[in-house]
Amino acid sequence: MLVLMLVACETHVQENDVVEVEQDDNCDPETSFITSIKPIIDNNCLPCHRAQLPILTSFENIRDNRDDIRTQVVVLRRMPLGGSLSSDEIALIRCWIDNGAQNN
Ligand code: HEC
Repeated sequence: MLVLMLVACETHVQENDVVEVEQDDNCDPETSFITSIKPIIDNNCLPCHRAQLPILTSFENIRDNRDDIRTQVVVLRRMPLGGSLSSDEIALIRCWIDNGAQNN
């Protein structure tokens, strides 16, 4: 991740080269990690990511992995593997990450 950021810095690669979903006008900058984001992750991600690939198990880990989460969930829609999130849930995750992934 660090390497990626350094490379992006040096070559001025636009992170937005990847396909973006439509803008979400309902994005609340105060979207809460505790009440909105954590339940989505607990229910849809931890069944696999607690044991198999232990990421997303704490706030710090989720925050540190936010770019990968955004890519997998919002852009590529690969995660949750074998399942799906509602468009509202995807919008919440995107909104929370884009507003700084606060511990709120
Ligand atoms: C059915 C099991 C399963 C579920 C449910 C699941 N994942 Fe994953 N996830 C995996 C596996 C296996 C990998 C590693 C292999 C791969 O990337 O396909 C992975 C990889 C990842 C990665 C790392 C990708 C990379 O850059 O290498 C992220 C981030 C991620 N998952 C996020 C999530 C999030 C967020 C959710 C919930 C919305 C979720 N996953 C739900 C199985 C799952």
